[in-house]
Parts: sequence; C-alpha cells; structure tokens
Amino acid sequence: MLTTADLWFRYQETHVLKGLTLDFSTHAVTGLVGANGCGKSTLFMNLSGLLKPQQGAVLWQGKPLDYSKRGLLALRQQVTTVFQDPDQQIFYTDIDSDIAFSLRNLGVAEAEIARRVDDALTLVDAQHFRQQPIQCLSHGQKKRVAIAGALVLGARYLLLDEPTAGLDPSGRSQMIEIIRRIVAQGNHVVISSHDIDLIYEVSDAVYVLRQGEVLAHGAPGEVFARGELMERVGLTQPWLVKLHAQLGLPLCKTEDEFFSRMRKQNAMKEAS
Ligand SMILES: Nc1ncnc2c1ncn2[C@@H]1O[C@H](COP(=O)(O)OP(=O)(O)O)[C@@H](O)[C@H]1O
Ligand SMILES: [Mg+2]
Repeated sequence: MLTTADLWFRYQETHVLKGLTLDFSTHAVTGLVGANGCGKSTLFMNLSGLLKPQQGAVLWQGKPLDYSKRGLLALRQQVTTVFQDPDQQIFYTDIDSDIAFSLRNLGVAEAEIARRVDDALTLVDAQHFRQQPIQCLSHGQKKRVAIAGALVLGARYLLLDEPTAGLDPSGRSQMIEIIRRIVAQGNHVVISSHDIDLIYEVSDAVYVLRQGEVLAHGAPGEVFARGELMERVGLTQPWLVKLHAQLGLPLCKTEDEFFSRMRKQNAMKEAS
C-alpha cells in the first residue's frame, strides 16, 4: 500500500504541498492532474523518499517511510519513479549495462539479471534498438529505457512523472500500451501529467491538484465532467468527455471505443 497522510512540503517558506491525503493502492492506475507548478513532481519526489515532508507522512505498507539508506534502497525495489527527463536517470552509454546497474548493485545473479533485462526491454518495445549507444536514441526511446530500468527491479508501484512529455503521437500511443502492459502484470501505476486526454484514458481514479491541494478525487469520467472545476484548475476537459457533455454522444474511455460505437450506431440507423 502506498498512501500519504496530511503531507505538507515546502522548499522555502511557502508550502508547495498542503495537507495531501492520498491513496494509490485502491486502483491499478491513479492519475494526478494539475496545471504546471501545482506540485506533481514535488509529490513524486516525496513518494520516492528523495524529499521528506516537514509534516505528515508518506506511508508504505501502512508505515511511515524509513529514510535511512537501507530503508530507501528497500523502498525503491517496491516503488520506483521514472522522472520526466530520462537523461537524469540514464548513467551508462550502453542500454544493457544501464538497466542491469541496479540489479548488479543488489548482487543479483548474472543469469537472473540477463533474464530480467530481456523481459523489461521486451515490455517497453526496446529490443530492436538495444545495441545502440544511448546517446543516439530519441527522447521517447530513452524514456522507455528509463522505464525498463525501473521495471527490472520488479517494483509493485511505478510512478511516472509526465511520461508523454516531449513524445510525438506514436510515442504517446506506445506509452499508453506500455502502461497497460505494466498494469496487466498486476502492478500499480501512478501517473502525473497535464495531458488530460492521457490521464482520462489510462486512469481508474484521478486526483485533481491545484497549488498543492486536492480539489477533486474520483472516477475520471465523473471528475472531468465537471466543466467549471476543470476551468478553475486551468485545464480543459478530455475531448472524449467534451463530446459526451456537449453533444450527448456516448461517453467512451478511448478513441477506438468511441469510433467503434459511433460506427455501430450509424450502421443501425442505416439499417432501420
Ligand atoms: N527545487 C526547488 N526549489 C524551490 N522551489 C521549487 C523547486 N522545485 C519546484 N519548486 C516550486 O514548487 C512548485 C511545484 O513545482 P513542481 O512540483 O515542479 O510542479 P509540477 O510538477 O506540477 O509542474 C512550483 O511553484 C515550483 O516553482
Ligand atoms: Mg512536473
């Protein structure tokens, strides 16, 4: 279980996170949305123990985090974070060494390392560029390598900070697919983004943040249907929600579902 209890955090005098009580365990994918600067990345750094709240706590399995070196090492095998900039997380020039690094540190046997690295690279669709030097990869490819580096640890919670920032549409679709595969393995994903369409599509529950506070929480379809709330936080509604709210079209979770339902409706109209 990964939760926070009345978590307050400030870098200097002003609080950036203000009394956040959040639960990331109930749903497979929990989305965090909010305008730039609302505190999403700061929250992730608190969740991964890189920053320590001045008040309240991050709880792992019901207990406040252990901030000792050993405690954090143990936490990171269960809760791993992929930050926005992959360059911050990639240390080697070749992909295999980079991904194997944390496992070698933990003293995992080489045969097991090879197996886990291979599985992780397959999951993120990175096998075909596995031999290339990291500096030659695109931003999206680096991002996938960073995710593979988190996956090899076998973490139960993967925290993705702005996973689609800087990706082109195909990179974005690929990221959605990768998130689905991670979830299919029984893991939890926490995903922060100001890409509202992405959060709507992949999340089972969402928290809407504004200036370090939770303004709303619940099922994405319900929360994002509240037009006035979305305006207040400086976000637009997901386009699939807009079609439903403004034109009364069926509320669908994905573009594919929407078009397939519309095609069926049209076919039925033509037949009648
Ligand atoms: N290292 C830092 N020192 C001081 N203030 C910071 C630092 N990092 C972020 N902030 C401030 O904290 C607030 C939240 O930032 P951040 O967590 O990056 O938000 P988000 O990820 O939602 O865009 C912003 O006002 C930002 O300027
Ligand atoms: Mg951020």
